[in-house]
Amino acid sequence: MVEKSKKAEVLNLSFGYSPAVKVIRSINLPIYQNTVTALIGPSGCGKSTLLRCFNRMHDLYGQVKYEGEIKLYPESVNILSSTVDPIEVRMKVGMVFQKPNPFPKSIFENIAYGLRVRGIKKRSYIDDKVEDSLKKAGLWDEVSSRLHTSAAALSGGQQQRLCIARALATEPDLLLLDEPTSALDPISTAHIEELLAELKKSVTILMVTHNLHQAARTADYTAFMYLGDLIEFGESDQIFTNPKEQRTENYITGRFG
Ligand SMILES: Nc1ncnc2c1ncn2[C@@H]1O[C@H](COP(=O)(O)OP(=O)(O)OP(=O)(O)O)[C@@H](O)[C@H]1O
Ligand SMILES: [Mg+2]
Repeated sequence: MVEKSKKAEVLNLSFGYSPAVKVIRSINLPIYQNTVTALIGPSGCGKSTLLRCFNRMHDLYGQVKYEGEIKLYPESVNILSSTVDPIEVRMKVGMVFQKPNPFPKSIFENIAYGLRVRGIKKRSYIDDKVEDSLKKAGLWDEVSSRLHTSAAALSGGQQQRLCIARALATEPDLLLLDEPTSALDPISTAHIEELLAELKKSVTILMVTHNLHQAARTADYTAFMYLGDLIEFGESDQIFTNPKEQRTENYITGRFG
């Protein structure tokens, strides 16, 4: 694979929920543009914690201290800097969670909401963006005739694709997915996996997954974390067929975790 340009980069990042205990330690990780990067590792190793640094989600729960940087390119701005507004960061970095969490609104309003919050009022623009986002999320054909009905009536898999559409509507630079298919059936999972290949043409994706086959199938790059450290990062082919580190090999062959 030809090495791509970086969309983001984690530099010496450490973070803890309390000052005494670092949950992730001195992480360095490049995120290449228009690729999918999978974060794998045993439960509690810090995958979600790392992901939530990218959209400054930790800031929502009180005083937090990040050590190190996450640079977003090409601007080269450190999104963890205390001078950067977390709300600005979340406009550039979208997130989708394990459990689909649509707003208790119509399908249309779920997507239009984020645009309105950003001050967009033009009806034709919002209509186009709703359609475009639903198409990108592979949901348009299933919902185009019922855009103004409740999102709660969609299946779990459809709700998750709606959450992806909602995240895409504001044209983020980065899309964070935290175990996006773990609550879904195999068909909905396959649907979202296929979608990732399309989505990465327009957005750079960082995804936490426990499903190693999913990482091998969908991710261009994979990072293996263990007890707060980033043990190994590389092209997924290399990580899954020829890991350099013994701990990576132990994990992917099911010897622990
Ligand atoms: N809000 C929180 N407050 C305090 N400690 C937390 C909090 N969230 C996570 N932790 C701790 O941080 C460590 C890393 O948790 P994290 O959720 O990042 O792991 P993970 O790799 O995503 O695990 P899983 O695969 O189970 O989702 C764990 O020891 C966890 O107990
Ligand atoms: Mg997690």
